[in-house]
Amino acid sequence: MEPEKPEQPEPKTPVGLATRVREGMKEDLEAIKTKANKDNVKAEIENLKDPTKTQLYKSIFRVKHEPTPRSRSLGVLTNVFLHLHPAKINRDAVRFSYTWGMGGITFYLFIVLTFTGILLMFYYHPSKGQAYQDILYLENDVPFGKLLRNMHRWGAHLMVITTWLHMFRVVLTGSYKTPREFNWAVGVVLLTLTLLLSFTGYLLPDDQLGFWAVTVGTNMAKASPMLGNEGPFGAQAGMTPYNDVRFALLGGSIVDANALLRSYIWHCIAIPTIVSVLLAVHFWRVRKDGGISGPAPVMLESEMRAAGSRAVKGAAGK
Ligand code: HEM
Repeated sequence: MEPEKPEQPEPKTPVGLATRVREGMKEDLEAIKTKANKDNVKAEIENLKDPTKTQLYKSIFRVKHEPTPRSRSLGVLTNVFLHLHPAKINRDAVRFSYTWGMGGITFYLFIVLTFTGILLMFYYHPSKGQAYQDILYLENDVPFGKLLRNMHRWGAHLMVITTWLHMFRVVLTGSYKTPREFNWAVGVVLLTLTLLLSFTGYLLPDDQLGFWAVTVGTNMAKASPMLGNEGPFGAQAGMTPYNDVRFALLGGSIVDANALLRSYIWHCIAIPTIVSVLLAVHFWRVRKDGGISGPAPVMLESEMRAAGSRAVKGAAGK
């Protein structure tokens, strides 16, 4: 007996792309005619009167914005820009009279300096013959060159002052205490780097002021303990004018072309990069340490009045 053959499915006639598109369109047209869809269209047109109800709005802002604390928190947390801020803060901690806004102003100045610094780089060559010529060109010929240079220069002076003031306010409000010790230490490094940014920028115009400032500064470095050839225990540590910290800073034993190039690279690349990373850590720690320290929360005058009248009404009701 011959074995039974398994049943073969009937071969389908191939459907072309044009047919499939036509069928699909027919189905879509039928769907549009249904009542449910007509209602949807009507609702969408009605929603246009209130943009927050449209599908487009909902696809961008994924949570409702009601004036409730929960909704407000969600609004902050689900927004890429706003989520950098805490969803809730102590009102009194952000009072201008408490922080003086000094940390924020310092950060703002850092941004201004980065921006103007990048623009200055378009006009500046860190080489002995060219650097000072570039400064003269900026001052006298480049449109708004003088403004650009002075924004950078005054911004730098201001940043040094505001960083000190910020540190001063942190001391006055005792904000260096537990749990903020680590952020204080990060701040100390930031202050040092801010001063180093200022110092390395000093030499770049390659004028008399910068030359002598760097001469004095690096001469001080050669007197540092262990690392400078004239400092305490320097000789014992094997330091000479040709291998000590001054030599490393200048890229030689005199203030010359190598010193200019080293200042430029520290000033424009290395220190700003380190500062940017540390600022991220600094801000992150402010959040993780429970937000800006702040005084004990107090009531607003209006809240006191409202609470007072509630108490009076309560007493009258008894
Ligand atoms: C580049 C320099 C700096 C920037 C841009 C910066 C920025 C900030 C900002 C925006 C805040 C939030 C509170 C506020 O605005 O006062 C803050 C908080 C803080 N900063 Fe700085 N800071 C810098 C340097 C320093 C220095 C030099 C110190 C101290 C040595 C320091 C220690 C602190 C501490 C401890 C807090 C927490 C304060 C609190 O919770 O009340 N920062 N910083």
